[in-house]
Amino acid sequence: MTEVFDSLRKEIEAESLDSADAVDSFRIRYLSKKQGKITDLMKGIKDVSPGERGTYGQGVNELKTLANAKIKDAKTKLGSSASDQRDIDLSLPGRAPKMGSLHPITQTRHLINRVFESYGFTVEEGPEIEDDWHNFSALNFPADHPARDMQDTFFIEPTDLEHGGIMLRTHTSPVQIRTMKDGEPPFRIIAPGRVYRNESISYKSYCLFHQVEGLFVDEGVTMADLKQILHAFAQTIFGDDVQMRFRPSFFPFTEPSAEVDIWWNDESLPGGGRWLEILGCGMVHPNVLEAVDIDSEKYTGYAFGMGIDRIAMLRYGIDDIRILFENDERFLDQFA
Ligand code: DAH
Repeated sequence: MTEVFDSLRKEIEAESLDSADAVDSFRIRYLSKKQGKITDLMKGIKDVSPGERGTYGQGVNELKTLANAKIKDAKTKLGSSASDQRDIDLSLPGRAPKMGSLHPITQTRHLINRVFESYGFTVEEGPEIEDDWHNFSALNFPADHPARDMQDTFFIEPTDLEHGGIMLRTHTSPVQIRTMKDGEPPFRIIAPGRVYRNESISYKSYCLFHQVEGLFVDEGVTMADLKQILHAFAQTIFGDDVQMRFRPSFFPFTEPSAEVDIWWNDESLPGGGRWLEILGCGMVHPNVLEAVDIDSEKYTGYAFGMGIDRIAMLRYGIDDIRILFENDERFLDQFA
């Protein structure tokens, strides 16, 4: 029996493993489950008498250790590059890194910013957590105005009328107040940002959305300036032949106030389209100017506010606002 082991050991020692292929065929010849010589020896243990099985098994194990050590040795000598090469298929197409893209709301915000920046507006920001004074009082909201109601506003500290409350801002208009309070006229700013409202969620309204506020205050600013800038804006976003109308409206912080509609062509509708509201605007109410210590006899201004989500939905033909907040990659990938 020992002769079998001895001759196999010599045979193994004599093998020269000088290539990856040689290592492979060596492993198959001695160690493979089906036909390996050492494996065969192991299988033969059942024919060995019980008394000799211990020595036999030990002999086989020594051969196994020897063979494995030889393989390990050869692999180190051949270097990892040689053995790895067989695992790499250079003809396979590469895996491209997945590129992210800007969210459609971000893209639309950038576009709106660009348009107004080209008219000399600068971009301002304000906090999303506001106090009653900036969000309502300074904007000429009467104490009993329904917008102050719990139904619409997410309060952080509830309002008591003497001290005011703390809330998630319900619109970007408080940035008008912050800007005017901190500086001297003229002001020519836009303020994009997130706003929050406690509304029931549906395809057309969500508890958070985005607005851009615009404000221009100087001597001699008129409603004609407002119409001109908004028309130019609508042309850039919706095309030169956009049809636009001003509809009288009401906001506490502007007088007069208007809502702006654009004619939206849609073959599926009788008459080929309908008027769609895109923003609210007006001449800054004298009370608002006085609240921030600006002389309303000397200065006038216009303001406007529009929903970025709304504009994005029109541009991209999105019919459910909720999808803008779901971060579904199948949706987002379309804006790469
Ligand atoms: N803050 C108004 C809203 O959230 C939008 C708005 C309307 C802003 C008229 C304005 C404006 O600056 O003049 O509905």
